[in-house]
Amino acid sequence: MMKDLYDIIFKRKSMRRFDEALYVKEDELLDVKREMESMIPLVEDIKIRFEVVQREKTTVKRGEYCLLMYSEEKPHYLLNAGYMLEQMDLYLTSRNIGVCWYALAKPHKMQVDGLDYIIMLNFGKSRPQDFRKSIKQFRRKKREEIWNGDFDSEVIEAVRLTPSACNTQPWRFFSDGNLIKIYRNKKIKSFIPQSKLPYYNSIDMGICLYFLEIALINKGYEFSRRLILDKGLHSDLVEIATYNIR
Ligand SMILES: Cc1cc2nc3c(=O)[nH]c(=O)nc-3n(C[C@H](O)[C@H](O)[C@H](O)COP(=O)(O)O)c2cc1C
Repeated sequence: MMKDLYDIIFKRKSMRRFDEALYVKEDELLDVKREMESMIPLVEDIKIRFEVVQREKTTVKRGEYCLLMYSEEKPHYLLNAGYMLEQMDLYLTSRNIGVCWYALAKPHKMQVDGLDYIIMLNFGKSRPQDFRKSIKQFRRKKREEIWNGDFDSEVIEAVRLTPSACNTQPWRFFSDGNLIKIYRNKKIKSFIPQSKLPYYNSIDMGICLYFLEIALINKGYEFSRRLILDKGLHSDLVEIATYNIR
């Protein structure tokens, strides 16, 4: 499944305009709900709930539906949110359903079964030509700014294209032989208030881990991942994960 998703990385974009004549058909919505069942968690034992609601049940003004995520607040729960919902971002894109992550929106229902609302994807049917066709349509940092060390250039290119809140791109990679270390840069200039950056940038890091894994699998690498609990008190770089490539 993940192998097919590699190509979708180059197609996806944050969809903020929708063709009013198009809509997600009932069977497509059923497929979406079925796909939601097969999302793979990054961390197994975090309680989560997903709900698809009409966007009128949120503060979002565009698109047709919102996919809401609620979660227990355990270690790595924000990484888990990014990692899981990005699977739906790519799936929806593969079906020509346009998606946008929304930090600046809220659902009417802020809690489900005692779990807090975390983040949402807004989506609606789009035309095939509304998606990206060329790498030139991405606005991203250069490879040298995000990756230190030699590694497969296709893998570096894929992670470089990861979406992030306000395009802040907080990831830093250090590779050495079979080892890849991933960090979140705390020093980010953005409209996002400093106090909110760790929250949204942690979701971004989860998205980034998913892109990394898709790219590794696409090139046939086997790997093991270790998540790191780093409070980031001593450095501008907060350690997130280490991957061992075999
Ligand atoms: C966690 C997260 C939250 C986001 N919140 C918003 C938002 O509130 N409003 C919005 O228009 N875009 C939002 N975005 C979309 C980003 O601005 C977008 O991903 C980034 O600029 C890169 O562009 P691209 O997704 O088209 O590649 C968000 C993205 C992420 C990952």
